Order: sequence, then C-alpha cells, then structure tokens
Amino acid sequence: MRNIRLGFLGFGTVGSGAYRILAGNGQSIARKIGAGIEVAGILVRNPGKKRIPGVDHRLFTDNPGDILDNDGIDIVVEVMGGTDPAREYVLRGLKNGKSVVTANKDLIAVHGKELFAAAEENRVDLLFEGSVGGGIPIIRPLKHCLAANRLKDIMGIINGTTNYMLTKMTRDGSDFNTVLREAMEMGYAEADPSADVEGYDAARKISILASIAFNTRVTLDDVYVEGITRIAREDIAYARDLNYLVKLLGIARDTSEGIEVRVHPCFVPVTHPLASVNDVFNAIFVRGDAVGEAMFYGRGAGDLPTGSAVAADIMEAARNRIKNVTGLNCTCFEEKPIKPMVRIESKYYVRLKVHDRPGVLASIAFALGENNVSLASVLQKHTDGDMAEIVLVTHKVREQNIQEALKIIEKLPTVGEICNLIRVEGD
Ligand code: NAP
Ligand code: HSE
Repeated sequence: MRNIRLGFLGFGTVGSGAYRILAGNGQSIARKIGAGIEVAGILVRNPGKKRIPGVDHRLFTDNPGDILDNDGIDIVVEVMGGTDPAREYVLRGLKNGKSVVTANKDLIAVHGKELFAAAEENRVDLLFEGSVGGGIPIIRPLKHCLAANRLKDIMGIINGTTNYMLTKMTRDGSDFNTVLREAMEMGYAEADPSADVEGYDAARKISILASIAFNTRVTLDDVYVEGITRIAREDIAYARDLNYLVKLLGIARDTSEGIEVRVHPCFVPVTHPLASVNDVFNAIFVRGDAVGEAMFYGRGAGDLPTGSAVAADIMEAARNRIKNVTGLNCTCFEEKPIKPMVRIESKYYVRLKVHDRPGVLASIAFALGENNVSLASVLQKHTDGDMAEIVLVTHKVREQNIQEALKIIEKLPTVGEICNLIRVEGD
C-alpha cells in the first residue's frame, strides 16, 4: 500500500482540525481509500509558533516552494484563507500536477473559473466541500446526488458566526460586540470578522452554491449583500412580537428573469424550520423538480466539523490519484443573467421614528399606496416625548416599489428617521 503525501498550506483552526481527524482515524481512513495518508510538509506564517500536540515540528516551513514544488507531494490542502497569496499558491500546485483541497470560499467565489480551468488542464482534482456549510455535506449532494433535478431554490443559514450571534442576542439579550468576541474565540469567525458580520462570507458561499445548483458562474460581485450590523435590540424585540425571528439568510433562485442571489437579514416565522436553527448550526434548503424540498443541517464552522469535510475531500482526491482518474470539476456550462435586486419580490418590515401627531400615518400610507405597496400590519408601541416608533409590515411587493416609497417617506417633515428595513421570508 503506497502512501498519499499531503502538503498543508496553513495550520490554524481548520488545518489542525483536519490533521487531528486524519491522525485519529488514520487506520480506517487508510482502509477506506486503499492507501495510507502522510503529511509531508506544512506551510505557515510562523514556523516557531506552538501547535497542537503530536505534530513533528520539522514539518513546518515558511517556504511555499517546500510544498508546491515538492515532487513527493500528491495533494495540497489549502487552509490558509484569503485570495492573496492563496490564488497564486493553488495555481502553482495545480500546474505542478497536484490535486488541491480547499475550504477557502473567498478563493472559489472570486477565482473559481480560473482555478477549475487549471485543474482540468492539468488533469487533477480541485475539491472544496469545506468552503460552504462547515461540516455539512452540500457541495457533493448538489453536484452528484441531486444532479438529475432542475434545481430552483436555495435558501439557508450559511454563516455560523452570525447565526451564533443572532441566537445569543435573541435568547439572552447579549450585546453585539460581546457575542462577536465569543464567536472569534471559538474559531468560528474569519480572520477579519467583518466578512461575517457584513454578510460577505455568506455572499461568497451563496455564490458558490448558486453556481453549482444552476450550472452558471455566479461570483461575489453578483450577490446583493447586507450584514447584521444594523440589527438593533428593537428589531429583535419587534420580530418576537410579530412571531418572527431574525436570521441572516443566503437566497438564490433560478427565475424567468434571471438568477436572484442575495444575502441579508430576514424575519423568518417562528414556525419555519430555519427558525429553529440556532448557535453555530447552519441549514440549507434546496428545492428540486424531482426531489421536492431537501434540507441539510449541521455545524457550519469550527475545527473538527470543517476538518471533517476537508478530510473527506482529501480521501476522494487520494482515491482518484490511486486510480489515476479525476472527479467532476466545473459544472458551469450555461450563462444565465443575474436578476437585478430591484426586481425581487418580498414582504417588508420597516421601523420608523416619526413625530407623534395627527395625520402622520395617513401621509406614510399615502406614499406607500402611490407606489403600490399594500400594508399587512402597523404597530405603534414606544413614544419618547414628541417622537413615536412605528413598525409597518407590508404584503408581498417589488423591492423597487418599497424603495421608491421610502425615498418619499424619509423626506416627509413628520418623519424623523427610517431606522431599518428587513425583508420577511418563509411565510
Ligand atoms: P486560521 O485559523 O486563521 O489559520 C490560517 C493558517 O494559515 C495559519 O496557520 C497561518 O499561519 C497560515 N497562513 C495565513 N496566511 C499565510 C501566508 N501568507 N503564508 C503562510 N501561511 C499563512 O484560519 P482558519 O479558520 O483555519 O480558516 C482557514 C480557511 O478555512 C479560510 O479560508 C476560512 O474561510 C475557511 N473556513 C474556516 C472555517 C472555520 O470554522 N474557521 C470553516 C470553514 C471554512 P500561522 O499559524 O503561522 O499564523
Ligand atoms: N466564518 C465562517 C462562519 C466559517 O462563521 O460560518 C465557516 O465558513
């Protein structure tokens, strides 16, 4: 039995998680793939740093050539993050005939086309199960198990950090910065956590899922993105009063007007299955013409969950190398347009501060009516001196109509501030 030799690029949360799984389950993994797995080198920024116990310190290097130009290495495991220098290193590895396993959604969402072309050209694998949903199997199910379907919808909680934060903020009334710090300490957050809280991590993931599901290249630039930084305690409390919970969702739909692809906070009914997805858990709904609805659920971040996906990709790449074959790489064989955000349809929650005097509601209702926005409910709870807080929930309308109405409403002399607009999904 020959050994398959790995070179790691990065050995932080995910790299050390994958290593622990490969070491801990080494015997059964070797039997499953018909070869032993051996780590031959690990590129890090700081080779002198203290690492998890049991790893030979001589494996660590800060010279990328020790991994990428080493003829003895079969598979490069890229778990360093970011696009620069990760793109250059992955391309170099592929061109040198190595298969690559990565958990890096930034890389796949932005440079996927170029990297898959390089993998095809060099007849090697480029696998990325860990890049979306942490430990949840979703890339392989979309590419293989659901391949016979026409997939229409994907809707999911695909960022563990923000789901952890929103859960804590809702359940315990915790403060934003405290829960963000906790998520960082647990290794859930990105190196730059603004990618999580501003929605860009989820945007990268939904662009990857949409590309696979709809067989057309969707990149980060195509995604409409809003994060959770504007979510206030008041929004969470109103959501509860109205029987909703606030969740950050990634949504992608294949429509007759093009691919709809967006990430933003949503009010989700408390009875909806996504409402019970808490803490670091992720869940992804997929709807296909044959399978109907399918839901994938599990831990969306963390060392061992993500390491589990990375280790399984390593096993697939190893099996393929032993048989001298490659698996399915790029499946984007169509070119579909992206539907502009203004053309989507949704229900909307709007929170406003207004002067507490007669006629205010009438002027707001007039602006909404002029733009074909129909109201489902109106709530006024808090009054602070001359100012009152009003919450509106609309029926389903076009984004363009609500935005036009709000442009008029914010200029009304009786309106102090439009505090937030949150889309309502899953009713
Ligand atoms: P991390 O803990 O910050 O680890 C990054 C590793 O890469 C460190 O070992 C670091 O070296 C090394 N590194 C970074 N830049 C480098 C450079 N220029 N040259 C050499 N080495 C470099 O990151 P992580 O959380 O494991 O995330 C890794 C990747 O997995 C990212 O793409 C992330 O988006 C993705 N991911 C993460 C999770 C998660 O739960 N954390 C889940 C799914 C996917 P030092 O150790 O010397 O600093
Ligand atoms: N920062 C990411 C998250 C890691 O919180 O979901 C998993 O991709």
